Amino acid sequence: MKVVITRRVFRELVERLGARHEVVHNEEDRPWPPEELAAQLSGASGAMATVMDRFDESILARCPDLKVISNIAVGHNNIDVAACTKRGIRVTNTPGVLDDTTADLTWSLLMSAARRIAEADAYVRRGDWKIAFGVQYFLGQDIHHATLGIIGMGRIGQAVARRARGFDMRVLYHNRSRLDGATERALGATWVHRDALLAQSDFVVVMVPYSSATHHLVGAAEIAKMKPTAILVNSARGGIVDDAALVAALKEKRIAGAGLDVFEGEPKLNAEYLELPNVVLTPHIGSASRATRIVMCNTAAANMLAVLEGREPPNPVN
Ligand code: DGY
Repeated sequence: MKVVITRRVFRELVERLGARHEVVHNEEDRPWPPEELAAQLSGASGAMATVMDRFDESILARCPDLKVISNIAVGHNNIDVAACTKRGIRVTNTPGVLDDTTADLTWSLLMSAARRIAEADAYVRRGDWKIAFGVQYFLGQDIHHATLGIIGMGRIGQAVARRARGFDMRVLYHNRSRLDGATERALGATWVHRDALLAQSDFVVVMVPYSSATHHLVGAAEIAKMKPTAILVNSARGGIVDDAALVAALKEKRIAGAGLDVFEGEPKLNAEYLELPNVVLTPHIGSASRATRIVMCNTAAANMLAVLEGREPPNPVN
C-alpha cells in the first residue's frame, strides 16, 4: 500500500515502513500546501501527519483511498475528525508519550520568564554586562513557595503539577471535571473556580486542547483578573490565549511576563511580542526531545500499520 509521511522523520522508521509499503517521505521537510498535500496523497491508504497538515473536507474529498490519518501529535485540531468519521477514515494520535517532555518545556518557560533568563542571556551576549554584580540586576519572581494555577488538568497538566512539589508550591487547578480525591491528594492540587485561580496564582499555566470552546479561553477579561506580578505560560496550542490581549497586557505591565511556545497562526506571530522583553518565546517545541520525538513517530507508525492491517489502532481518536 502507499503511505505518505508528510514531514521528515527518522531514517530507521522510513526504512522499516519501506520494507512493507510504498513510502512517500517528505525528506525536504518543507510543509506541503493543501494542493500539494492532496496530490501527494493521491492513491495513498495511510498518512502520517503533523499539526501543520490541515485535513479538511476539501482535502479528504480528493483522497478516496485514505484509510487512516495518523497524527504525530497528541493534539488533532488540524483534522476534521467528524468529516473523517463520515468517510470511514480512522484518525489516531500519540497520547501519553510526550507528557513529561512537554511538562519539562512548560517549566522551562515558567522558570525562564520568572527569572528573566532569556533577557539576561541577551544582555550578556550583547556585551552590556560591564559591572560584575548589581543588587538590583534582573530582579525576577520567586518560584519556590509561590502559587501555581493550572487550567486543564489532563495528563500533561498533572505532569506539570507533579514538578511543583520540588518547589514547595501551592497548586491550584481548574478543569471541567474534578479529579478524584486520591489523585488530588497525590498531586497536592486543589480544584478552584477559574476566576479564583486567575486571581490567586503567581503562575498560570494553560494546558487544555484547542477547540472552538477553548478559543481565546484566556483573553483580556481573564488577564485582567491576574495579579500584576503573575506570569502566564502557554505550551498547549495557539489560539487558546488571545495574543493581541496578551501583548497589550505585557506592554502595559498589567502582568509581569509570559512564556509562550505556541501562537495564533504560527509560525507567524504577533510582531509586537518580538519587542517585549518580558516574554519568552519558543517555536512549538513542547515535545521536542530526541527520545520523545522518536517514540511519537514510532507510536504514529504503529497506529497507522494497525489500521492498514485491519487491527484496532492503539490510539484511536474516532
Ligand atoms: C502535540 O503533540 O500536539 C504537539 O503540539 C506537537 O504537535
